[in-house]
Amino acid sequence: AHVPAFSVEMPLPPVARPVQVRPDADVYQVRIKPARVEIVPGLLTPVLSFGGGFVGPTFQVRTGRRVIVKYHNDLDRAANVHLHGGHVPSVSDGHPMDVIDPGRFRVYDYPNTQQGTTLWYHDHSHHTEARNVYAGLHGFYVIEDPAEAKYGLPRGRYDVPIMIRDALIGQDGELIYDVPDTRTTLLANGRPQPYFRVAARKYRFRLLNGTTHRLFRLRLEGDLPLIQIGSDGGLLPAPQRMRELLISSGERADVVVDFSRFKPGDQVMMHDTSGTVLRFDVVRRARDHSRVPDVLRPLPDLPEATVTRDVVFNLDLTTPKWRYLMNEQEFDPARVDFQVRRGATEIWRIHNADVERGGINHTFHLHLEQFRVLDRDGEPPWPTDLGRKDTIYVPPGASARIKVRFTEHLGRYVYHCHFLDHSSLGMMAQLQIVP
Ligand code: C2O
Ligand code: CU
Repeated sequence: AHVPAFSVEMPLPPVARPVQVRPDADVYQVRIKPARVEIVPGLLTPVLSFGGGFVGPTFQVRTGRRVIVKYHNDLDRAANVHLHGGHVPSVSDGHPMDVIDPGRFRVYDYPNTQQGTTLWYHDHSHHTEARNVYAGLHGFYVIEDPAEAKYGLPRGRYDVPIMIRDALIGQDGELIYDVPDTRTTLLANGRPQPYFRVAARKYRFRLLNGTTHRLFRLRLEGDLPLIQIGSDGGLLPAPQRMRELLISSGERADVVVDFSRFKPGDQVMMHDTSGTVLRFDVVRRARDHSRVPDVLRPLPDLPEATVTRDVVFNLDLTTPKWRYLMNEQEFDPARVDFQVRRGATEIWRIHNADVERGGINHTFHLHLEQFRVLDRDGEPPWPTDLGRKDTIYVPPGASARIKVRFTEHLGRYVYHCHFLDHSSLGMMAQLQIVP
């Protein structure tokens, strides 16, 4: 279905409300269920949903406050919920084999011991994760951190999560999966190329690439700076003024945009190289006491690494159906690929094969811990690699070195390509953390 740009307003996903506030935890309940939602104006699109909307409810939680979520699976297929970027015990991680069968429920217990940042949650059921996420099983999980109040960043209604993804919607409103990027439409918070009304002041936008398979290069019209203040795992040590943000599937960029030079009636587009994402319509003036300090949150020092590992992405092109491999193997839940000691600090070298050896674009995502990017092919990391990361883009023929410390949890966690159609075909492996 063709949709003229800027015909709908960008919605904010609903905020999840606890069903019970206990002394030790806030308790939530969410139903995973089919729904029909309006994405394209005037058409109803069948989707899979957390709670009935195309973008699930936003959890707004606080560092130090435990959260328990009971997910009921009302779908006719297995589902599960992974908290992407969450520092959580392995039973609550949403490991791809820990699925919730149809008609059953599962309780996830999130300690929220990590610093403030923008996480997201999505289906991770092995082999079906890409289709399920594309069909709508995704939402935000924002951790507010009392330790960050002192920075004076924009907050409240001026702190806005924006999930950017694509979709192809057929004539009858159906979501069509597995099409080339060029045919899809860009959605912001689940609506096609919407407008969003802003005041002439600073905003904090928590940008998430919620696609299953896509790189975005985001820019604002007139090269208005995107002042990046945070990445996947929290605030950066200092803000970075960016003209362009490269953000791949699963990555987040926390940015401040200052509209104060505009007046009511002005408009500012946000573009990707493939088209317009959304339009900011400046509609009023507003007082602004928020700030972007020159110094933000320092990164903790990491101990020296004692272990080095190699992770290689490549395709096996010799079989009629290409095989998607990590270290020459497809994912096998019965196999532990790396055994890691709790407390260890490690360097992982992520390699993507050359084009001749089946190198295509991939992204690397590690569950449980945030890492630092040390370098890329021996050169300094990219501006978008700064801070605490859990997902990075690795181009064909390229490599990146990351450093990570496995702190307190034990058990099994996966790492994989976050192009979810690749992970669903086996480009995934698992580590086991032992005492
Ligand atoms: Cu966002 Cu293992 O995934
Ligand atoms: Cu991949």
